[in-house]
Formats: sequence, C-alpha cells, structure tokens
Amino acid sequence: MSRRQVNPTRRFADSGSFPFAGSLHPKSRSSPLLSIGLVLVGAFLLIGYSYSGSGGFGRDKEAVSKVEGDLSCTLEVQRAIPILKKAYGDSMHKVLHVGPDTCSVVSTLLKDEDTEAWGVEPYDIEDANGNCKSLVCKGIVRVADIKFPLPYKAKSFSLVIVSDALDYLSPKYLNKTLPDLARVSSDGLVIFAGYPGRQRVKVAELAKFGRPAKFRSSSWWIRYFVQTSLEGNEAAVKKFEQAATKKLYKPSCQVFHLHSSH
Ligand SMILES: *[C@@H]1O[C@H](CO)[C@@H](O)[C@H](O)[C@H]1NC(C)=O
Repeated sequence: MSRRQVNPTRRFADSGSFPFAGSLHPKSRSSPLLSIGLVLVGAFLLIGYSYSGSGGFGRDKEAVSKVEGDLSCTLEVQRAIPILKKAYGDSMHKVLHVGPDTCSVVSTLLKDEDTEAWGVEPYDIEDANGNCKSLVCKGIVRVADIKFPLPYKAKSFSLVIVSDALDYLSPKYLNKTLPDLARVSSDGLVIFAGYPGRQRVKVAELAKFGRPAKFRSSSWWIRYFVQTSLEGNEAAVKKFEQAATKKLYKPSCQVFHLHSSH
C-alpha cells in the first residue's frame, strides 16, 4: 500500500475561500455574520495579495517542503514500490537496493514472495536494529563503500535501485559508481535523488555521511547521464508515470530510469 502525503497547504487553499460565500448574500444584510464574513474575506484577500506579491504559489510549495524536509529518498523508495512493480513487472524479481537505511527497503521488498532482494549500505550501521543485523549476518545486506567497485558480478540483479547515496558523491566518484550500478543490473537502474533545496539531512546524521549532500537539478543529472553515456529508459519512464498517475502518487524525490549497460 502506498501512503500518500496529504498536502496541507493545498487543502487549506481549496476549501478556504468558500465557507464565507454565503455571508455575502444581500439577504443577510443586518446579520453580524456579514461583517465577520467580510473581515475574513478581506483577510483572505490580504493574505492572497501578500503571497502573490512575493512569489505566490512557489512560496506555498516551499513551506510544504520544509515540513517534508526530513523525508529521505530511501523512504520515498518504499512509497514507490507498488509503482515500480507496475512499471517494471517481472524485472522486480531480483532487486538490489543501494543507499542508507537499505535494511528498511530490503525488508519491505522481501515481504513479496516473488521478490528476491539485496542491499548495499554505504555507511556504518552501528545503530542498526535486530532485524537489520540479521540481514547483514545472512549476507543479504552488505556494508560497502560505494566509491569502490561493488562486490557483485555483472548482471547479478534484474533491477538496481539507488537512493540518497549518489547525492553524497562528487562527479569524480559518480563517474565510477554510476556505471558500476548499471553494470550489476540487467534490466535497469532507478535513481532516487533529492531535489535542490528540498531534502534535508538531520544534523545528527551529517557525520555519518562524511560530506554534506549536494542536491543537483534534473537538468544537471540529465546532462551528466548523457556525458557518461548512460541511456534513459523511456519505456520505463512512461510506465512509471502512468502507474503514478493512476495511484495519485507524486514522488517527493527526483526519479530517473536508466538502461543497464550491456
Ligand atoms: C567524468 O566523466 C566524464 C565523461 O567521461 C568526463 O567528461 C568528466 O571530466 C569526468 N569527471 C571527473 C570529475 O572525472
């Protein structure tokens, strides 16, 4: 099941201007409701005016994303699993997830009997829970620095999903890591990356990641994929978008679909 984030600002805006429409009716001339109504309408107009004066809707979005700021793209992968299943079908049978807190994604994927799942945790997992420790013991989750080649043979997985991790790599390391992710997959690579100025890392976790995240724009990523000869998977993009629309799913991270390297 996908949990959809309800956008509180939007809901407020949708219903905000209507309850007072009745009090504008001439019949209620003498009613004290009228003046209250007018004051409220005035207040709304003022708020609306000051918002439009300073960038309007964009500001609303910013306020909302501050609330969502703590959500990592790894959490977003969990929300997106039903959509990914629709988009990738059988290619979801053998999945590798790469990213912080990979245990949570792997556990969710393993709930489906038809899915085999593995994980690479790029950072230390000292604070891991019992379930995660057991995944590591079984070799399902590995702790590995993704600046170095991944410990898997070519095409070991049908689909590779990576979240958050790439935001912490400089282009020098991206140049090695991204082709390596494409190498170990056979049917595709899905990248969840943070939006610039949107995702935030908890201060307590900064030390773990070593360097601050650098969130890049989608045009940066697309230019980068072209430069490094990674091909976009148009068919997957289309299916993912169709499934997302149907389930009213709106990712709060950037999602890129690439072909595996052959
Ligand atoms: C990464 O690879 C691209 C394409 O091969 C190259 O143009 C670029 O200079 C490389 N960047 C770094 C930092 O090594």
